Amino acid sequence: MKLIIISNRLPVKATKIKGSYRFARSEGGLTTGLDSLDMNIERHWIGWPGVDAKSDEDQETISRHLKEKNFHPVFLSKKEIKEYYEGYSNSKLWPLCHYFFTLIQHENSHWESYKRVNAMFADAAKKVMEPGDIVWVQDYQLMLLPKMLRDINPNVSIGYFHHIPFPSYELFRVLPERAELLSGLLGADLVAFHTYEYMRHFISAAERVLDINFELDEVRLRERVVRVDALPMGINYNLYYDAILNPKVARIAYKLKKDYRDHKIILSVDRLDYSKGILHRLKGFAQFLENNPEYWNRVSLFMIIVPSRDSVESYSGLKTKIDETIGSINGIYSNMNWTPVHYFYHGFSFEELCAMYHVADIALVTPLRDGMNLVAKEYIAAKRDTNGVLILSEMAGASIELIDALIINPNDTTQIEEAILKALKMPDAEQQERMKWLQKRVSKQTVNKWAGDFIRDLKAIRERNMSLFSKVLSSDYEEEIKRSYRNSKERLILLDYDGTLSPFKPKPEDAVPTDEILETLRLLASDSRNRVVISSGRDHNTLERWLGGLNIGLAAEHGAFYKDNSEWNKNTPPKEWEEDILGILQQFVERTPRSSLEVKETALVWHYRKVDAWLASIRVQQLIESLITPCTREHLQIMKGNKIVEIKYPEFTKGSEVNRLLKNRSYDFILAMGDDVTDEDMFNALPAGSYTIKIGTLSENARFNLLNQSDTLPFLRRVALGE
Ligand code: UDP
Ligand code: G6P
Repeated sequence: MKLIIISNRLPVKATKIKGSYRFARSEGGLTTGLDSLDMNIERHWIGWPGVDAKSDEDQETISRHLKEKNFHPVFLSKKEIKEYYEGYSNSKLWPLCHYFFTLIQHENSHWESYKRVNAMFADAAKKVMEPGDIVWVQDYQLMLLPKMLRDINPNVSIGYFHHIPFPSYELFRVLPERAELLSGLLGADLVAFHTYEYMRHFISAAERVLDINFELDEVRLRERVVRVDALPMGINYNLYYDAILNPKVARIAYKLKKDYRDHKIILSVDRLDYSKGILHRLKGFAQFLENNPEYWNRVSLFMIIVPSRDSVESYSGLKTKIDETIGSINGIYSNMNWTPVHYFYHGFSFEELCAMYHVADIALVTPLRDGMNLVAKEYIAAKRDTNGVLILSEMAGASIELIDALIINPNDTTQIEEAILKALKMPDAEQQERMKWLQKRVSKQTVNKWAGDFIRDLKAIRERNMSLFSKVLSSDYEEEIKRSYRNSKERLILLDYDGTLSPFKPKPEDAVPTDEILETLRLLASDSRNRVVISSGRDHNTLERWLGGLNIGLAAEHGAFYKDNSEWNKNTPPKEWEEDILGILQQFVERTPRSSLEVKETALVWHYRKVDAWLASIRVQQLIESLITPCTREHLQIMKGNKIVEIKYPEFTKGSEVNRLLKNRSYDFILAMGDDVTDEDMFNALPAGSYTIKIGTLSENARFNLLNQSDTLPFLRRVALGE
């Protein structure tokens, strides 16, 4: 078993200098974090080496260099870099997910390229992937990939982690490609995010766009279950905590301390990105200087900005503004001995970065939006026996965990100014106390724990999926059913109607039986060895009108009514519905557009198939709560079904109907098919050895699963005709 990580960028980037290639570590939390993962498993990594390598020779050189680390490069052409990477990924998905609505660019060619490049990654994975492997897809550049991989090889475990925020549905819905992206992600067994808020937004978008229903953190698709989780990414804590023991780091730290012994150092480290709130931060710092002249000459801001995506217009424009703002602050406040902002527009080595983290008195981390922000965690870890204060934006995913930081809203520059002042004045004891709690958290939720949790979850869901998948009605199982049918003399064939024989219709009254349904039932009924019974929740008048002409048994309202030998029987004396129960239901129909009430003799059904998913989930809970008292008083059962809430007499279920049919009669072949929650009672009541088949989503209670409702009638015909 191998772990195959797939991300847009490899952890190393190649650059061509004077005709030969140099390799350096990539910046960005995804690769720095994942690359420091220390797991006992054969690891492969598929990704772009960060350079436009045109010739075969260049590509060969890069591949050879990366091979020993099991890195598999995907080479992107200039056009692909422009359209897929700078275009769709970073001029559409990135601004959208970070709530920079006005920066979003819509270009059809970008989407076409995004699809093509995702397919290129799928091709690269095909060469490495084997059954039983774990494939872990990373981030927004590859949202279509999980589904593509699933189509190539259904037997690998596929996980997806989204490293950036997942926006609210109201924003996500603007994407014309929203359905493809969400379906792409649902190709994975496990889809995870840094925080539960991103997870909540994803679930809400998937439910609305794809018209599917989650139950808490899971959705049952036709052939498998997909789980969604919130797993905050961490860092390799010891790597940063122990860094100061490295003589090189200690030397740099010592020099820094010496050079700035009378100064307080405020550190900020980011890629060049509008989401990082760099201009707001500079404004906050300038305000601090303006209002606190006593700190002039005593405080310096070290601002490290790592070049990033500078061919994208919104990034290059930002760079100009940052340069101007820093120039203006330094222009106003600098003197011979003091420069307020030390500005570095390049990456630093790991050792230099750790030394700066170790020495800095304050880390100023103020993104306007950030999926997680690992810099904040690295700063905390590097504080081995030194004091320091973390100022952290509430808009960074990390703020959910790091509650002992000074949390600010980065849009309010006064909050930045005040936090700087508070941090500078903070007594040592308070700094140490806060840092103790922060370190406790960061040292526990490490990158290893994060990846371990992810892979454990992924394996568990995969195992469950494999066992559920083993129930899918294969041709072997079908042969077994046909053989048993042929060799039997007393058969019971029990069929649910809606969702089993007939597809669901927006309006329940439109599900009138088609000629195909009627002919199939006639065919089954024409064999004198068959007892065919339709077991439905529908009322008996409808069943009689639709199916009464056939020579079959009917059970209506979950067996409260049944028709045997052409006669309807009723298991219960007529009863009037209580006014208060009817009143509550009618009130909910009025308050919930597109819902309706069905009044039957032994059951009341509130239908909400066409209601907005969010509103429906609230109304279902409210309705159940309002009904509990009157229904308990009247000994009525409240049941949730497929887009319905049903109030009924508890003594009648599809299970009680089974018991009636089994009474005084024995069968040597029983086939039962159903799709809904109520059919589970039918499956459970039947003796072992019965052929129980769940239609659509998977069931723990049925022996088999038929994925498509449209396969039901052809399957029944094949069984009847022995084809
Ligand atoms: N980083 C680096 N070299 C630098 C500056 C930063 O390798 O000169 C790394 C830093 O250590 C951190 C990552 O870049 O691990 C930034 O990750 P973060 O999650 O803070 O932000 P992202 O860039 O992923 O948005
Ligand atoms: C963020 C994204 C990563 C990306 C990194 C660096 O961390 O979540 O997917 O790799 O930024 O950005 P870049 O465009 O240089 O790869």
